[in-house]
Amino acid sequence: MTDAGKEHAEQGAEPMTGDGVTPGIVRIGDTVRRPVRPFTATIQAYLAHLHQAGFTAAPVPLGIDEQGREVLSFVPGDVPREPLPDETANEDVLVALARLIHRLHNVAQGWVPPLDATWGGIPGSKTVPIGPVDGEPELVSHRDYCPGNVVFRDGVPAALIDFDLARPTTRLYDIANALYWWVPLLDPRDRAPAFTDLDAPHRVAVFADAYGMTAQQREELVPLAARMVHRFHLTARAAADVDPVFRRFWEQGVRDRMPRAEAWLAQAGPAIAARLTATAPYKHT
Ligand SMILES: Nc1ncnc2c1ncn2[C@@H]1O[C@H](COP(=O)(O)OP(=O)(O)OP(=O)(O)O)[C@@H](O)[C@H]1O
Ligand SMILES: [Mg+2]
Repeated sequence: MTDAGKEHAEQGAEPMTGDGVTPGIVRIGDTVRRPVRPFTATIQAYLAHLHQAGFTAAPVPLGIDEQGREVLSFVPGDVPREPLPDETANEDVLVALARLIHRLHNVAQGWVPPLDATWGGIPGSKTVPIGPVDGEPELVSHRDYCPGNVVFRDGVPAALIDFDLARPTTRLYDIANALYWWVPLLDPRDRAPAFTDLDAPHRVAVFADAYGMTAQQREELVPLAARMVHRFHLTARAAADVDPVFRRFWEQGVRDRMPRAEAWLAQAGPAIAARLTATAPYKHT
């Protein structure tokens, strides 16, 4: 930062950069300030519901500050960045994440969004030729479990942040999103080093058991994940056309990673489905 920049920097405000999707995020003491977007009021209402219902593993919504920014509680812990660090390949991470998402789903179930609810989305996604693949909504959930949105404590996921893509969805879509990032559902050459040789069907089953996935969810997971990854690919390309941050992601590897993920899942899908629906599913010990 230049001296002039320092002079104008806000007293006590520490910039927080994730992957650069949301500019202007700062931490001030025990709070985080983020730009207000059209969906901010809806998400604050959702976060308020989660806390009232006893789910404390998410930021507390604290309204709008004097500069017109969203105020959230700072969630203590460590937020990993891509490439995922080796220690996050541990199965305990999948188990803790599955249980966390299961708790989120249970408290989110039954929350009725305000009539004027407004939801976020990836830039340009309205131009994608296929619609959302979530299915008939059952609840409002997070839908974006990328590493930068998961707070770890004691080496395992303990809380969720950045509910910018939350909207009405299904439990299964939300599960598929978490599996995409954390199995991950990627070609081995696109995974972080500690994940390259891991057994994807086994890891999906570990998550499924920890979450308590139903027989129907186990049946439907692989086809839904294939549709989801295909739509991710189309959405990433559409976003790259309209937004410089997403163009950088596209050029720095998403362009190659997404078609490889689709091809890998087409090939690995049957083994994942077989493991998930086996009569004696893997039990985590
Ligand atoms: N409430 C919070 N508590 C703790 N840390 C936070 C909080 N909000 C944001 N952060 C930190 O700031 C980073 C960026 O915030 P956020 O995820 O909201 O924005 P983003 O632009 O979507 O980033 P990313 O692309 O990494 O998801 C997070 O990855 C996290 O490290
Ligand atoms: Mg984020």
